[in-house]
Amino acid sequence: MKHKVIETNIGIMIVFVIVAISFGTLVELVPLIMGKQVSEPVAGLKPLPALELEGRDIYIREGCVGCHSQMVRPLRAETERYGHYSVAGESVYNHPFLWGSKRTGPDLARVGQRYSDDWHRAHLYNPRDVVPESNMPAYPWLFDDEINGETTGRKMAALRKVGVPYTDEDIAGAAEAVDGRKEIDALVAYLQQLGTLLQTRR
Ligand code: HEC
Repeated sequence: MKHKVIETNIGIMIVFVIVAISFGTLVELVPLIMGKQVSEPVAGLKPLPALELEGRDIYIREGCVGCHSQMVRPLRAETERYGHYSVAGESVYNHPFLWGSKRTGPDLARVGQRYSDDWHRAHLYNPRDVVPESNMPAYPWLFDDEINGETTGRKMAALRKVGVPYTDEDIAGAAEAVDGRKEIDALVAYLQQLGTLLQTRR
């Protein structure tokens, strides 16, 4: 009876819908805002050094995130395959985060140190050379193109504004650390540190 009154009166229905959504939002959001779990870095987390930071930008530029997630979910099948599930504290310095939502290829959240640098170089030069059935694109230009360190320091300064604890020395030394290095060096350095703080696999 009462149900009918509510469901046939749009005014009351709107009020109840707003109350329900507001309550749900509070229950979901307040613990996240108050809790340290999502804003506190995991032990040992450091901002990416200059070369790895440039590698991350190449990863973004080349659209790797379109085929690779960086988010191991807390499910048995995933932790057996990739290692420890991803935790929020690993991502607090990531702006923007690269969790992704598409897995044409494997998750890369814990790929760091799983292969040698040489494997990554061969794989990125032509994936079919090491994984014959691969449909991943080849990235041969990364072996020719050099990094220009002119903006590296400024990127770090910008990240510092949103809470990434780069020091003045990091920023001052950034250009020198990357200038003239090949893009492939930066990308491989970036891949090799992914997820290495929390490793259980291997
Ligand atoms: C069109 C989709 C696609 C894109 C774009 C792509 N990949 Fe892949 N990637 C794959 C597939 C499929 C595999 C599995 C086969 C293989 O190992 O080549 C893979 C495998 C990998 C692996 C090995 C992972 C493992 O655990 O064995 C790495 C590392 C990797 N990709 C890095 C990259 C990087 C870095 C980029 C961007 C420069 C990139 N991928 C772009 C599809 C893609």
